[in-house]
Amino acid sequence: ATTLGASAAASGRYFGTAVAAYKLSDSTYSGILNREFNSITPENEMKWDATEPQQNQFSFGSADQIVARARSIGAKVRGHALAWHQQQPGWTSSLSGTALRNAMLNHVTQVATHYKGQIDSWDVVNEAFEDGGSGARRDSNLQRTGNDWIEAAFRAARAADPAAKLCYNDYNTDGQNAKSNAVYAMVQDFKARGVPIDCVGFQSHFNAQSPLPSDYQANLQRFANLGVDVQITELDIEGSGTAQANSYAAAVRACLAVTRCNGITVWGIRDSDSWRASGTPLLFDNSGNKKAAYNSVLDVLNSV
Ligand code: G3I
Repeated sequence: ATTLGASAAASGRYFGTAVAAYKLSDSTYSGILNREFNSITPENEMKWDATEPQQNQFSFGSADQIVARARSIGAKVRGHALAWHQQQPGWTSSLSGTALRNAMLNHVTQVATHYKGQIDSWDVVNEAFEDGGSGARRDSNLQRTGNDWIEAAFRAARAADPAAKLCYNDYNTDGQNAKSNAVYAMVQDFKARGVPIDCVGFQSHFNAQSPLPSDYQANLQRFANLGVDVQITELDIEGSGTAQANSYAAAVRACLAVTRCNGITVWGIRDSDSWRASGTPLLFDNSGNKKAAYNSVLDVLNSV
Protein backbone atom coordinates (compact mmCIF):
# COMPACT_ATOMS: atom_id res chain seq x y z
CA ALA A 1 0.00 0.00 0.00
CA THR A 2 1.05 3.60 -0.44
CA THR A 3 0.36 5.10 2.99
CA LEU A 4 1.63 4.27 6.47
CA GLY A 5 -1.79 3.37 7.86
CA ALA A 6 -2.91 1.20 4.97
CA SER A 7 0.46 -0.55 4.86
CA ALA A 8 0.35 -1.33 8.59
CA ALA A 9 -3.27 -2.47 8.28
CA ALA A 10 -2.22 -5.16 5.80
CA SER A 11 -0.67 -7.02 8.76
CA GLY A 12 -3.48 -6.13 11.16
CA ARG A 13 -1.63 -3.23 12.76
CA TYR A 14 -2.17 0.49 13.03
CA PHE A 15 0.25 3.32 12.30
CA GLY A 16 -0.57 6.40 14.31
CA THR A 17 0.62 9.85 15.27
CA ALA A 18 0.28 12.27 18.15
CA VAL A 19 -2.02 15.16 17.24
CA ALA A 20 -2.50 18.64 18.70
CA ALA A 21 -6.07 19.93 18.40
CA TYR A 22 -5.00 23.47 17.59
CA LYS A 23 -3.17 22.27 14.48
CA LEU A 24 -6.19 20.55 12.91
CA SER A 25 -7.00 23.77 11.05
CA ASP A 26 -3.55 23.73 9.37
CA SER A 27 -4.24 22.28 5.92
CA THR A 28 -0.78 20.80 5.38
CA TYR A 29 -0.91 19.11 8.77
CA SER A 30 -4.46 17.89 8.33
CA GLY A 31 -3.82 16.66 4.82
CA ILE A 32 -0.97 14.42 5.97
CA LEU A 33 -2.94 13.26 9.00
CA ASN A 34 -6.00 12.30 6.97
CA ARG A 35 -3.95 10.57 4.29
CA GLU A 36 -1.33 8.63 6.23
CA PHE A 37 -2.48 7.61 9.69
CA ASN A 38 -5.09 5.21 11.06
CA SER A 39 -4.57 5.89 14.77
CA ILE A 40 -4.40 9.16 16.71
CA THR A 41 -3.07 9.96 20.17
CA PRO A 42 -4.01 13.39 21.56
CA GLU A 43 -0.61 14.90 22.42
CA ASN A 44 -1.83 16.87 25.47
CA GLU A 45 -5.62 17.19 25.28
CA MET A 46 -6.59 14.14 27.34
CA LYS A 47 -4.15 14.79 30.17
CA TRP A 48 -5.39 15.55 33.67
CA ASP A 49 -4.69 19.31 33.52
CA ALA A 50 -6.57 19.61 30.22
CA THR A 51 -9.59 17.48 31.11
CA GLU A 52 -10.20 18.46 34.75
CA PRO A 53 -8.89 22.01 35.24
CA GLN A 54 -10.98 22.43 38.40
CA GLN A 55 -11.84 19.49 40.59
CA ASN A 56 -14.88 17.70 39.24
CA GLN A 57 -15.31 20.23 36.42
CA PHE A 58 -14.46 18.49 33.22
CA SER A 59 -13.39 20.08 29.96
CA PHE A 60 -13.40 17.80 26.93
CA GLY A 61 -13.63 20.27 24.04
CA SER A 62 -10.16 19.90 22.51
CA ALA A 63 -10.00 16.16 23.07
CA ASP A 64 -13.48 15.74 21.59
CA GLN A 65 -12.31 17.59 18.47
CA ILE A 66 -9.51 15.08 18.01
CA VAL A 67 -11.80 12.11 18.62
CA ALA A 68 -14.25 13.51 16.05
CA ARG A 69 -11.45 13.80 13.48
CA ALA A 70 -10.37 10.24 14.22
CA ARG A 71 -13.90 9.02 13.67
CA SER A 72 -14.25 10.95 10.42
CA ILE A 73 -11.11 9.36 8.95
CA GLY A 74 -11.72 5.89 10.41
CA ALA A 75 -8.74 6.05 12.76
CA LYS A 76 -8.45 4.44 16.18
CA VAL A 77 -7.78 6.58 19.25
CA ARG A 78 -5.05 5.91 21.83
CA GLY A 79 -6.14 7.67 25.00
CA HIS A 80 -3.23 9.39 26.75
CA ALA A 81 -2.98 9.51 29.78
CA LEU A 82 -5.33 8.95 32.71
CA ALA A 83 -2.88 9.01 35.62
CA TRP A 84 0.55 10.64 35.45
CA HIS A 85 2.76 12.62 37.85
CA GLN A 86 3.18 15.40 35.24
CA GLN A 87 0.62 17.76 33.74
CA GLN A 88 -1.66 17.56 36.74
CA PRO A 89 -4.02 20.48 37.34
CA GLY A 90 -2.96 22.94 40.04
CA TRP A 91 -5.66 21.87 42.47
CA THR A 92 -4.08 18.45 42.96
CA SER A 93 -1.07 20.02 44.69
CA SER A 94 -3.07 20.69 47.85
CA LEU A 95 -4.25 17.06 48.04
CA SER A 96 -2.58 13.95 49.39
CA GLY A 97 -3.45 10.57 50.85
CA THR A 98 -7.02 9.37 50.49
CA ALA A 99 -8.24 12.68 49.08
CA LEU A 100 -5.71 12.54 46.23
CA ARG A 101 -6.33 8.83 45.67
CA ASN A 102 -10.06 9.42 45.38
CA ALA A 103 -9.56 12.43 43.12
CA MET A 104 -7.36 10.34 40.82
CA LEU A 105 -9.86 7.46 40.74
CA ASN A 106 -12.72 9.85 40.08
CA HIS A 107 -10.69 11.37 37.24
CA VAL A 108 -10.01 7.95 35.70
CA THR A 109 -13.67 7.00 35.99
CA GLN A 110 -15.07 10.23 34.58
CA VAL A 111 -12.71 10.51 31.63
CA ALA A 112 -12.91 6.83 30.69
CA THR A 113 -16.70 7.04 30.96
CA HIS A 114 -16.88 10.15 28.75
CA TYR A 115 -14.95 8.32 26.01
CA LYS A 116 -16.51 4.90 26.61
CA GLY A 117 -16.56 2.85 23.42
CA GLN A 118 -14.38 5.31 21.49
CA ILE A 119 -10.90 4.43 22.72
CA ASP A 120 -8.90 1.54 21.31
CA SER A 121 -6.21 1.65 24.02
CA TRP A 122 -5.82 3.84 27.10
CA ASP A 123 -2.50 4.74 28.67
CA VAL A 124 -3.99 4.25 32.13
CA VAL A 125 -0.76 4.96 33.96
CA ASN A 126 2.21 6.78 32.46
CA GLU A 127 5.87 6.86 33.61
CA ALA A 128 5.48 5.48 37.12
CA PHE A 129 8.98 4.00 37.43
CA GLU A 130 12.26 5.62 38.38
CA ASP A 131 15.08 6.02 35.87
CA GLY A 132 18.44 4.39 36.50
CA GLY A 133 19.33 1.16 38.17
CA SER A 134 17.05 1.12 41.20
CA GLY A 135 14.06 -0.56 39.61
CA ALA A 136 11.95 1.42 42.06
CA ARG A 137 8.70 3.21 41.61
CA ARG A 138 9.10 6.90 40.87
CA ASP A 139 8.46 9.05 43.92
CA SER A 140 5.36 11.16 43.17
CA ASN A 141 2.26 12.44 44.85
CA LEU A 142 0.36 9.48 43.39
CA GLN A 143 2.95 6.93 44.56
CA ARG A 144 2.75 8.42 48.05
CA THR A 145 -0.96 7.49 48.18
CA GLY A 146 0.15 3.84 48.37
CA ASN A 147 1.93 1.32 46.16
CA ASP A 148 -1.38 -0.09 44.93
CA TRP A 149 -2.36 3.17 43.16
CA ILE A 150 -1.49 1.72 39.76
CA GLU A 151 -3.72 -1.33 40.05
CA ALA A 152 -6.50 0.83 41.51
CA ALA A 153 -6.31 3.04 38.42
CA PHE A 154 -6.46 0.02 36.09
CA ARG A 155 -9.48 -1.44 37.91
CA ALA A 156 -11.31 1.91 37.72
CA ALA A 157 -10.57 2.20 33.99
CA ARG A 158 -11.80 -1.34 33.30
CA ALA A 159 -15.03 -0.69 35.21
CA ALA A 160 -15.66 2.53 33.27
CA ASP A 161 -14.88 1.24 29.75
CA PRO A 162 -14.66 -2.56 29.58
CA ALA A 163 -13.96 -2.57 25.82
CA ALA A 164 -10.87 -0.36 25.88
CA LYS A 165 -7.48 -2.05 26.06
CA LEU A 166 -5.64 -0.84 29.14
CA CYS A 167 -1.93 -0.06 28.82
CA TYR A 168 0.98 0.82 31.07
CA ASN A 169 3.22 3.31 29.18
CA ASP A 170 6.81 4.38 29.89
CA TYR A 171 10.14 5.57 28.43
CA ASN A 172 13.66 4.14 28.80
CA THR A 173 12.00 0.73 29.01
CA ASP A 174 12.64 -0.01 25.33
CA GLY A 175 15.58 -2.34 25.99
CA GLN A 176 16.18 -4.77 28.83
CA ASN A 177 17.40 -2.81 31.85
CA ALA A 178 16.58 -2.31 35.52
CA LYS A 179 13.61 -0.06 34.70
CA SER A 180 12.05 -2.38 32.14
CA ASN A 181 12.72 -5.35 34.43
CA ALA A 182 10.70 -3.60 37.12
CA VAL A 183 7.82 -2.91 34.74
CA TYR A 184 8.03 -6.52 33.57
CA ALA A 185 7.72 -7.74 37.17
CA MET A 186 4.68 -5.51 37.70
CA VAL A 187 2.94 -6.80 34.59
CA GLN A 188 3.73 -10.38 35.54
CA ASP A 189 2.29 -9.76 39.01
CA PHE A 190 -0.83 -8.07 37.57
CA LYS A 191 -1.45 -11.01 35.25
CA ALA A 192 -0.95 -13.49 38.12
CA ARG A 193 -3.38 -11.64 40.39
CA GLY A 194 -5.98 -10.78 37.76
CA VAL A 195 -5.40 -7.03 37.76
CA PRO A 196 -6.77 -5.87 34.38
CA ILE A 197 -3.93 -4.98 32.00
CA ASP A 198 -3.94 -5.61 28.25
CA CYS A 199 -0.94 -3.82 26.82
CA VAL A 200 2.38 -2.16 27.49
CA GLY A 201 3.47 0.96 25.64
CA PHE A 202 7.12 1.60 24.82
CA GLN A 203 7.52 5.32 24.14
CA SER A 204 10.72 4.93 22.10
CA HIS A 205 12.14 8.46 22.14
CA PHE A 206 15.58 7.88 20.64
CA ASN A 207 18.61 10.09 20.06
CA ALA A 208 22.40 9.86 20.16
CA GLN A 209 22.44 9.58 23.96
CA SER A 210 19.62 7.04 23.96
CA PRO A 211 19.74 5.08 20.70
CA LEU A 212 17.49 2.24 19.58
CA PRO A 213 18.58 -0.64 21.85
CA SER A 214 19.99 -3.74 20.17
CA ASP A 215 17.62 -5.90 22.23
CA TYR A 216 14.51 -3.86 21.39
CA GLN A 217 12.76 -6.77 19.65
CA ALA A 218 13.71 -9.22 22.40
CA ASN A 219 12.37 -6.83 25.01
CA LEU A 220 9.06 -6.37 23.17
CA GLN A 221 8.83 -10.15 22.80
CA ARG A 222 9.40 -10.92 26.48
CA PHE A 223 6.55 -8.60 27.44
CA ALA A 224 4.32 -10.10 24.74
CA ASN A 225 5.10 -13.52 26.21
CA LEU A 226 3.42 -12.38 29.44
CA GLY A 227 0.13 -12.28 27.50
CA VAL A 228 -0.17 -8.56 26.76
CA ASP A 229 -0.09 -6.62 23.50
CA VAL A 230 2.88 -4.34 23.05
CA GLN A 231 2.77 -1.02 21.22
CA ILE A 232 5.37 1.52 20.17
CA THR A 233 3.64 4.62 21.47
CA GLU A 234 5.73 7.80 20.99
CA LEU A 235 8.40 6.98 18.43
CA ASP A 236 10.81 9.69 17.37
CA ILE A 237 14.48 9.40 16.41
CA GLU A 238 16.78 12.39 16.19
CA GLY A 239 19.06 12.50 13.17
CA SER A 240 18.75 12.84 9.43
CA GLY A 241 19.29 11.12 6.11
CA THR A 242 20.24 7.47 5.77
CA ALA A 243 21.25 6.95 9.40
CA GLN A 244 17.86 8.13 10.63
CA ALA A 245 16.06 6.15 7.95
CA ASN A 246 17.93 2.98 8.98
CA SER A 247 17.05 3.47 12.67
CA TYR A 248 13.38 3.97 11.85
CA ALA A 249 13.43 0.86 9.65
CA ALA A 250 14.99 -1.17 12.46
CA ALA A 251 12.39 0.01 14.97
CA VAL A 252 9.50 -0.86 12.68
CA ARG A 253 11.06 -4.20 11.77
CA ALA A 254 11.29 -5.09 15.46
CA CYS A 255 7.57 -4.49 15.93
CA LEU A 256 6.64 -6.46 12.83
CA ALA A 257 8.70 -9.41 14.10
CA VAL A 258 6.59 -9.59 17.28
CA THR A 259 3.10 -10.96 16.63
CA ARG A 260 1.60 -9.09 19.57
CA CYS A 261 3.17 -5.76 18.60
CA ASN A 262 -0.04 -4.43 17.13
CA GLY A 263 0.67 -0.77 16.51
CA ILE A 264 3.22 2.00 16.12
CA THR A 265 2.67 5.69 16.89
CA VAL A 266 5.10 8.48 15.98
CA TRP A 267 5.10 11.49 18.30
CA GLY A 268 4.09 14.12 15.79
CA ILE A 269 3.84 14.64 12.04
CA ARG A 270 6.39 17.21 10.80
CA ASP A 271 9.78 17.88 12.42
CA SER A 272 8.40 21.26 13.45
CA ASP A 273 5.55 19.57 15.32
CA SER A 274 7.94 17.72 17.63
CA TRP A 275 8.14 18.35 21.38
CA ARG A 276 11.90 18.25 21.00
CA ALA A 277 13.32 21.76 20.98
CA SER A 278 15.95 20.84 18.41
CA GLY A 279 16.64 18.05 15.99
CA THR A 280 14.62 16.63 13.13
CA PRO A 281 13.12 13.50 14.67
CA LEU A 282 9.99 12.81 12.60
CA LEU A 283 8.96 11.40 9.20
CA PHE A 284 7.97 14.67 7.45
CA ASP A 285 10.03 17.84 7.13
CA ASN A 286 8.80 21.27 8.21
CA SER A 287 7.07 21.74 4.85
CA GLY A 288 5.29 18.40 5.07
CA ASN A 289 7.52 16.59 2.56
CA LYS A 290 8.26 12.91 3.07
CA LYS A 291 11.78 12.30 4.42
CA ALA A 292 14.06 9.33 3.74
CA ALA A 293 12.84 7.96 7.07
CA TYR A 294 9.28 7.98 5.77
CA ASN A 295 10.25 5.95 2.71
CA SER A 296 12.18 3.40 4.74
CA VAL A 297 9.26 2.95 7.17
CA LEU A 298 6.82 2.50 4.30
CA ASP A 299 9.11 -0.07 2.65
CA VAL A 300 9.43 -2.10 5.84
CA LEU A 301 5.68 -2.04 6.44
CA ASN A 302 5.16 -3.35 2.91
CA SER A 303 7.80 -6.07 3.25
CA VAL A 304 5.65 -8.38 5.38
O1 G3I B 1 -1.22 24.96 27.16
C1 G3I B 1 -0.17 25.85 27.60
C2 G3I B 1 -0.42 27.24 27.12
O2 G3I B 1 -1.60 27.72 27.73
C3 G3I B 1 0.79 28.10 27.51
O3 G3I B 1 0.62 29.40 27.02
C4 G3I B 1 2.05 27.51 26.93
C5 G3I B 1 3.31 28.31 27.30
O4 G3I B 1 4.39 27.47 27.58
O5 G3I B 1 2.20 26.21 27.40
C6 G3I B 1 1.14 25.36 27.04
O6 G3I B 1 1.35 24.08 27.59
C7 G3I B 1 2.39 23.31 26.98
C8 G3I B 1 1.75 22.01 26.49
O7 G3I B 1 2.75 21.16 26.01
C9 G3I B 1 0.74 22.25 25.39
O8 G3I B 1 1.35 22.80 24.25
C10 G3I B 1 3.44 23.03 28.04
O9 G3I B 1 4.12 24.22 28.37
C11 G3I B 1 4.42 22.00 27.53
O10 G3I B 1 5.26 21.61 28.60
C12 G3I B 1 3.68 20.79 27.02
O11 G3I B 1 4.64 19.88 26.54
C13 G3I B 1 4.17 18.55 26.33
C14 G3I B 1 4.85 17.60 27.28
O12 G3I B 1 4.45 16.28 26.99
C15 G3I B 1 4.51 17.92 28.73
O13 G3I B 1 5.10 17.01 29.59
C16 G3I B 1 4.47 18.18 24.90
O14 G3I B 1 3.67 18.99 24.01
C17 G3I B 1 4.17 16.71 24.65
O15 G3I B 1 4.67 16.32 23.39
C18 G3I B 1 4.87 15.88 25.72
O16 G3I B 1 4.54 14.52 25.49
C19 G3I B 1 5.13 13.60 26.40
C20 G3I B 1 4.12 12.50 26.64
O17 G3I B 1 2.90 13.05 27.10
C21 G3I B 1 4.65 11.47 27.63
N1 G3I B 1 5.95 10.95 27.21
C22 G3I B 1 6.94 11.97 26.90
C23 G3I B 1 6.42 12.95 25.87
C24 G3I B 1 7.48 13.94 25.45
O18 G3I B 1 7.88 14.75 26.52
